[in-house]
Amino acid sequence: MPAKKIVSVVGARPQFIKEAVVGRAFRASGAWNYVLVHSGQHYDADMAEIFFRELEIARPDHLLGIGSGTHGKQTGEALIECERVFMAERPDCVLVYGDTNTTLAAALAASKLKIPVCHVEAGLRQEPRDMPEETNRVLTDHISKLLFCCSEVGRENLAREGITRGVHVVGDVMYDLYRRMEPHFDARREMARLGVEENAYLIATLHRDFNVDDPARLRAILAGIGELSREAGLKVLLPLHPRTRKRIVEFNLQALVEPFLTTDPLGYFELMSLLRGCALVVTDSGGFQKEACFAGKGALVLMPDSAWRELFDSGLNVLADDPASIIRKGRELLDRLRGRDFSFPPNIYGDGRAAERIADLCRRLI
Ligand code: UD1
Repeated sequence: MPAKKIVSVVGARPQFIKEAVVGRAFRASGAWNYVLVHSGQHYDADMAEIFFRELEIARPDHLLGIGSGTHGKQTGEALIECERVFMAERPDCVLVYGDTNTTLAAALAASKLKIPVCHVEAGLRQEPRDMPEETNRVLTDHISKLLFCCSEVGRENLAREGITRGVHVVGDVMYDLYRRMEPHFDARREMARLGVEENAYLIATLHRDFNVDDPARLRAILAGIGELSREAGLKVLLPLHPRTRKRIVEFNLQALVEPFLTTDPLGYFELMSLLRGCALVVTDSGGFQKEACFAGKGALVLMPDSAWRELFDSGLNVLADDPASIIRKGRELLDRLRGRDFSFPPNIYGDGRAAERIADLCRRLI
């Protein structure tokens, strides 16, 4: 029987993806009694279940069923439920990922019970500082015992806030997963299924509150994407996050997405396969902008800032915070990339073994 117990807490889409590699590394090491908690922050089949199935993630030992709600309600319920589970399980440490309400709730619950918190994807910082994800990430970093950064940028950010102990640059677990799963991506099959041609479409994803909750801004973004696509002769593939789908109806913007190919949220293999065939990505997702770079694709990032400084240095990511700049910046990026074969610069986010490194550091340091 392994000597130490770890509780890993997930709840939202990007966390399932990270759990797929991290959970496997911990279990494979044989050093841990590994307990998986799913908060239920994401609960629709295409936001949650699909990732467990296709990435073969173990069934959660605890389902908290917190669901959607205001930030206070969602975070508060996850806090109460995590505390209950941690008091019953009495783990040696708690593992949290990224920047969601689930992350902060689990970290807070563990910290108050004096259980060491290990934070995967620590140290990222970006504007706007008042977005909920940033609050979650900063606070979690400040109560973590072990902080796992994807690159030196994370270490530098933490040092600026006085956090120097327990910081380890291990690489990015999303890069681990991408490399491991790459042989299974099938662009041709997915393009045929959706009726799109290679390099003749862009993929757009939107979910951030500051982009989708303001009617004027959402309208301007959708109009900008539409115009860019018409000018560049590209179809728009828009997998819709449930929040964005609701807002489009609520703000009566259906006519703007009518020419687009809209779908429900896509699974990991579908999205990565389609990514390989697309001409461009337009997104406000931190994870997807990075995956675009893994695939050598340009991404127009609809945010004022990015946490992934290296991606901007590589020239593959361009910020387009002002919706009025989408057409110009999209055109420039397409022109710059046309006919060029970019491959993702190796070693920016590690060597594909970040998850093993995390499991090993926890074993030695907890
Ligand atoms: C959350 C995370 C964000 C992460 C993103 C990935 C926070 C504050 N944000 O944002 O860090 O990048 O997940 O997608 O934790 N909804 C459904 N079905 C679901 C899930 C959500 O209909 O299965 C709808 C609900 O109306 C909900 C809204 O989407 O209120 C937003 O969901 P929520 O989990 O609060 O935040 P995300 O925008 O998904």
